[in-house]
This record gives sequence, structure tokens and C-alpha cells, in this order.
Amino acid sequence: MTTITFIHPDGHAQAVDATDGESAMQAATRAGIAEIVAECGGNAMCATCHVYVDDAFTDRVPPIGDDEDALLDGAAAERLPSSRLSCQLKIVPDLAGLVLRLPDRQV
Ligand code: FES
Repeated sequence: MTTITFIHPDGHAQAVDATDGESAMQAATRAGIAEIVAECGGNAMCATCHVYVDDAFTDRVPPIGDDEDALLDGAAAERLPSSRLSCQLKIVPDLAGLVLRLPDRQV
């Protein structure tokens, strides 16, 4: 168990509990974070779970996959170098304290 902090578009931070092995998307939706839509349920098919990884963690998250990379090109909000699909970010102990910024829109 660890804590992930989501930064909402208005700047307020929300800490949520996350279990090792689940995705950041799963932790967000369980906590009721509305900015994570997750239309496809975590199958890397919708890009409505887009997040921006905080600079302090960009070296710790796993490398981006080809499917994720392609999907992010179609994300509703601007794609940045820190963009990831939260359904593809599996929580592991090394990501304790992970900070993810939420985009202003997902669709
Ligand atoms: S939930 Fe659909 S791509 Fe992540």
C-alpha cells in the first residue's frame, strides 16, 4: 500500500491509497477522481485516463509501450513529454509517493 497524489487542474492535491500491483487509474477511479474517465476499463484503448507524471518521477515510471505511445497522440488534452496513460502505470514500491497531474479534459 502506498499513497499517490493527484493534482487537479485547479491546483488542489488529492492523496489516494494505492495497492501494489494495481494501476494508478484503478486507484483514481476507486477514489472517485472524476478527471479519470477510463472508458475502456484499463485496456489501453481509449486514452481517457491521461495523466502528466510529475518531474520527480519521470525516471521511475516504466518505459512507454508502443500502443500507449500511439494512443496518447489522440488524447483530448495536450500531450506533453510527461504524458502517460494511468491504466498503464502499475503501482510498485519504487513509486511510493507518486505525483500525477490531471489534464483539464479527457474527451
Ligand atoms: S483506461 Fe482506457 S486507455 Fe487507460
